[in-house]
Order: sequence, then C-alpha cells, then structure tokens
Amino acid sequence: MKHEGIETKLLCHWSLTLLSMLPFLPFCLPSRPGLRLPLGSMGWPFFGETFALRSQQQKFYMIRQRTYGELFKTHVFGYPSIVTTSPEAAKFVLVEHPHLFRRRGLPFVEDALGYRFFGYIENHRLHMKLRKQLQVPLFHLHKLIPQLEAWAISLMRSWEGRTVNALQEAKLYAFNVATLFVLGQQSENDRKELTKACECIIKGLGCWRLYFPGTNYFKACQGRYKACELVDKIVNRRRQSRTTQHVDILGILMDAEDDDKIPMSNRELRENVLTLLFAAHDAMGAALTWTLKNLRENASLLDELTDEHDKIVQRKQVPDQPLTWADIKDMLITQRVIKETLRIANVVDFSYREALEDIAYNGYLIPKGWRVMVVHTTFHLDAQNYPSPNKFDHNRFEVAPKPFTYTPFGNGAHVCLGRELAQLEMFIFLHHFTTKYR
Ligand code: HEM
Repeated sequence: MKHEGIETKLLCHWSLTLLSMLPFLPFCLPSRPGLRLPLGSMGWPFFGETFALRSQQQKFYMIRQRTYGELFKTHVFGYPSIVTTSPEAAKFVLVEHPHLFRRRGLPFVEDALGYRFFGYIENHRLHMKLRKQLQVPLFHLHKLIPQLEAWAISLMRSWEGRTVNALQEAKLYAFNVATLFVLGQQSENDRKELTKACECIIKGLGCWRLYFPGTNYFKACQGRYKACELVDKIVNRRRQSRTTQHVDILGILMDAEDDDKIPMSNRELRENVLTLLFAAHDAMGAALTWTLKNLRENASLLDELTDEHDKIVQRKQVPDQPLTWADIKDMLITQRVIKETLRIANVVDFSYREALEDIAYNGYLIPKGWRVMVVHTTFHLDAQNYPSPNKFDHNRFEVAPKPFTYTPFGNGAHVCLGRELAQLEMFIFLHHFTTKYR
C-alpha cells in the first residue's frame, strides 16, 4: 500500500510538471519545411500579452504590425494566437478558407454564455444551412419599424429634465430591439427581467472567478441562472402552443435540426439565445454611443443630419406619420455618418477563430489549435485606405472603399447576421434624436 502511495505521488508530481509546461509547448513546435511561425512575442508565461492588449487596445495591433509585419504571433486570452492585420489575410481567413477555421467566442464569453452557439459550429455546411434559415426574419424587418420608433420616442421622452448616461440608454434601446428580434413580442416584465439578468452576466465577463456574494462573478452566475429560467419559460410556453408560427430567431432555432434530424436541446436553445442577445446589443449600444459622441462634438455634422431628417418629416402628409422603408432608404447622409462612425470606432475590433489544421499562408505557418485574430481596426485606420484616418469625414463614403478594407460587420461565412437590423435601429434612433430631442 505504501509503495502504491509513492507511485501515486510520483504520478501526481509528473502530471503537475507536465501541466505547468503546457503554456510553453507552443514555443517548442517542430519546424515545418518551408514554413515558419510569424515573428512576435509570447509575453509572460500564463498571461502572455493579454494585459498589454487590454491596456493598449488599438495601439497593441498597430505597434506590432509595424514591428513584425502583417502577421504576428502572440499569446492572449489563454491561447497562443496568430494576429492578422491586412485585408488580404482577412480575405484568406474569413472569405476564401472559412472551412479551415472554426469561429470561437473569447474564452470568458464562451464560459459565461455557453459554447453551443450556432456561430461556433465546426461543421461549415451545417452552419451555413442554419444561417440561411435564420435570415428569414430579416425579410420582415420593415414590420419592426413602428415598435422601434415607439421605443426610441419613449426613451427620449424619459430623458427630459435629467442627465443620462448615453451608453446605458443606447444599450437599453438596443436590448429591447434585440429581444424583439430574437424572442418576438414579450411582456414588459419579462423583457425587464431578462435585461437585468443579462446586464449582470455582461458585467461579470472577464472578471476574476470569485464566487462570493457581492462580487461581479457571483452576480453574473445568478444572472445566468435567472436568464436561463426566463428563456426556458418562453420556450416551454411556445412548445405548449405549437399552432402559431413564429417568424423570429427563437422560432427558427426551435424548428432547426442537425444532420441526424435531432432538434436543439433546451441547453442549446438557451446558449443560442443568450449569445445572440449579447451579440445584438453589446456592439449596437457602443455604435450608437459613438454616433452620439460624434454629433455632440461636431455641430455642423448635427445640422447636416438634422436637415436630412427634417426634410423627411416635412414630406409627411400627417404630422407624426410613421417612417416607411422608403424613408429609411432616403437617409443617405445618415448612412454615411453611420459608416464613418463604425470605421473609426471599431466596436468589434477583431474576428476570432481556431485553426482546425496546420495552415500555410504566405510562407507562414498557422498551427492547428492556435487561435487566429483577424483584426479589422488596422486596415480601417490605415492612411493608404482612408487618408487622414483619424479624422471623422463621412463624405469619404461618397466613393466606395477599396475591396476588403471596410469590414465593421466582419466578412464571409460569419458576416454579421444582424447588420441590416443594426443599421435600421440606428436610422430610427437618429431620426428621432435629430427631429424631436432638444
Ligand atoms: C453595430 C452593431 C453591430 C456590429 C458592429 C456587429 C459586428 C459583427 C461582426 C464583426 C461579426 C463577425 C464576427 C466574426 O467574424 O467572428 C458579427 C457577427 C454576428 N452578429 Fe453582429 N454586429 C452588430 C449588431 C448585431 C445585431 C443587432 C445582431 C442581431 C441579431 C447581430 C448578430 C450577429 C450574429 C448572429 C453574428 C454571428 C454570425 C455567424 O457566426 O454566422 N449583430 N457581428
């Protein structure tokens, strides 16, 4: 028995030694003929360069792009990673070879919201099939206009006589729209409870895993439990009244089947709904806030935009007549303002992938299992694509940008599913902001 004890201890010792070497393994990859890893630094053991990325943000990519070239290696968010910074590399990963890469969420996002989101499916064909089905609600976007207008107006009314936090208000509007798009009409109470629960989850993203009452992580766990309960309630309600067809994302997910004709489990449905709500409202809230900031700092831009929207109001036969799809299509200056805001703000600064096999790109090796970050910021802020790139100039979009140099909504197989909805939300919000809010 004693002998066995020593063996067990030795086994534990060796397992621990091997485990502690894991973070260094990527440095010892066997070299492959003709291919080399891109230059770059792997930073500190375990932490890599995560802190540098978080503190330097856009500069992190710019500095390394200048030092190492269009591709560099690093170690961030717990994984050895290859960062691509050029439109050509983005085209290679996102558009030309999507089947060689699996879309992933950042590890702390997958931890909090789940990894069963349809966008993370490794089977490229199944992902494309689901995407096609999920596009159906986008053909009915015009039906959402009255509800979106009502929310924008009531939100702005609630600002009268008080100072508000733009980001919080924008997120509230975006969250309401996201729930409508994903879950269909819900009672105000359910919507409010879901918003509160999701806010707790989002606040806990990426924070230390301290499970004590009062910590953000604790609140995030409670929020997740509550949000799952609410989604289950909605799913069960629908299962009991199967007669009505729901043309919203949840309805389509509930009808979807995999290659073996197996429908999604409750867990898969929950994780899809939570990740979709996150995708739909987080970037949207940030994009709207940046637009408001630009308008506040640029009086002539606000005047120009107001002028466009006043003309739409004047054209109406009856005051306060609702907006139509034709009005939306006529908001050309607004369209350019939104485009320029997204170019400069880079609210989603990179697409995140996992290499499914060893991949060769331009003489470099992208090793299997490594994460790949396709950064959009670098070519959005490159003077060769956009002269004076840090200057806000919406008129630059009177001419179409060079191919593959404008990708705020991503590109290729995983291009943003909600991009038309996102733009519609912004058009409606800006229409009421410029014509009603003073
Ligand atoms: C201004 C607002 C938004 C921005 C800037 C944005 C940006 C993006 C980007 C860059 C991607 C690609 C990610 C990748 O390549 O890995 C993406 C994917 C996605 N977005 Fe958006 N998004 C916005 C709003 C929305 C909205 C309102 C929805 C509504 C449902 C939405 C749903 C999605 C979904 C489902 C995907 C994943 C598609 C897939 O993997 O097939 N997004 N978004």
